[in-house]
Amino acid sequence: MANSQKTILVSGGAGYIGSHAVLSLQQQGYKVIILDNLVYGHQDLVDSVLNVKLIVGDTGDRPLLDKIFREYSIDAVMHFAAYTYVGESVTQPDKYYRNNFIGTFTLLEAMVAAGIKSFVFSSTCATYGEPQTIPIPEDHPQNPINPYGMSKLMVEHVLKDFDKAYDFRSVMFRYFNAAGADPQGRLGEDHDPETHLIPLVLMTALGKRESISMFGTDYPTPDGTCVRDYIHVNDLADAHVLGIEYLLNGGKTDAFNLGNGNGFSVKEVIEAAREVTGKQIKAIAADRREGDPPALVGSSEKARKLLCWQPKYADLKTILTHAWQWHQKRHQA
Ligand SMILES: NC(=O)c1ccc[n+]([C@@H]2O[C@H](COP(=O)([O-])OP(=O)(O)OC[C@H]3O[C@@H](n4cnc5c(N)ncnc54)[C@H](O)[C@@H]3O)[C@@H](O)[C@H]2O)c1
Repeated sequence: MANSQKTILVSGGAGYIGSHAVLSLQQQGYKVIILDNLVYGHQDLVDSVLNVKLIVGDTGDRPLLDKIFREYSIDAVMHFAAYTYVGESVTQPDKYYRNNFIGTFTLLEAMVAAGIKSFVFSSTCATYGEPQTIPIPEDHPQNPINPYGMSKLMVEHVLKDFDKAYDFRSVMFRYFNAAGADPQGRLGEDHDPETHLIPLVLMTALGKRESISMFGTDYPTPDGTCVRDYIHVNDLADAHVLGIEYLLNGGKTDAFNLGNGNGFSVKEVIEAAREVTGKQIKAIAADRREGDPPALVGSSEKARKLLCWQPKYADLKTILTHAWQWHQKRHQA
């Protein structure tokens, strides 16, 4: 059977990155079922754009998982479901270890019990902690500095042990900053609360916020503001389809960075957003935030070589243009 006729369970498929991955899977002919508890997901987008079966439920619900794996013939799982607020993970670590670690662990146990052994995992560059080298390669030491990053690293360790014990194979994608939106404007980023720079800048351009704060303007970077690696959400989605294909074709457990390879400073993002939107966008210098390294940029050479991943939208203005189309449509009604 061709891979494209396989059925993929996508946890967190009603969220930002997961919904774009569902669209890419559908475009490649895969059958998709979404499992999402809708704590942060958007049912309206699943219904109007994705048109797939949505099971409203939690990855920590073992009886539900057993039922899903009994009722549907699932070939692989793409796992996006997690809480993603780094600051909240510091003040409420229990919430993050329960959802991101125990929830994922419950899903993994249910998969092993059901004999499903292909898993694509949303890990994060936050597993590296403070970078010792830039760009960060996959074999960089992993010393997360917050419970969010630690909850993801703990899953990575379980995945390596499950591989040895059960021949359970996984692709661990360590993303840098997901950004942008579906180029056709059907899907995009809609987090509440929003903490990511690009949507906050665009909400300022839309007049929904008065200004954008630049946290730290005296970093040892060319313009003094933090440098980050922004990767277009469609390029992430394409990488996930390649990850599934790699596993279904017998690929071994491995970790891959997914980033742009180019860093952009906070000031550069704001300036590019001014050009793309034609709006003023008031920016205010603010104090540094604890735990923000000056630069976070990843090397994605491994994904390019082993998965033949070719990011299509690496240009910052293209990322901003797609995000801007989406934000105007979603928030300017
Ligand atoms: N956005 C980024 O820049 C970024 C960077 C690195 C890693 N990641 C990882 O990518 C994944 C997706 O991120 P996102 O930005 O799309 O987040 P998101 O909040 O938009 O999507 C997550 C989805 O998972 C659902 N969910 C959460 N916990 C669940 C559970 N226990 N059971 C079922 N559904 C659950 C939410 O309702 C939401 O729809 C996350 O695992 C995140 O840690 C994101």
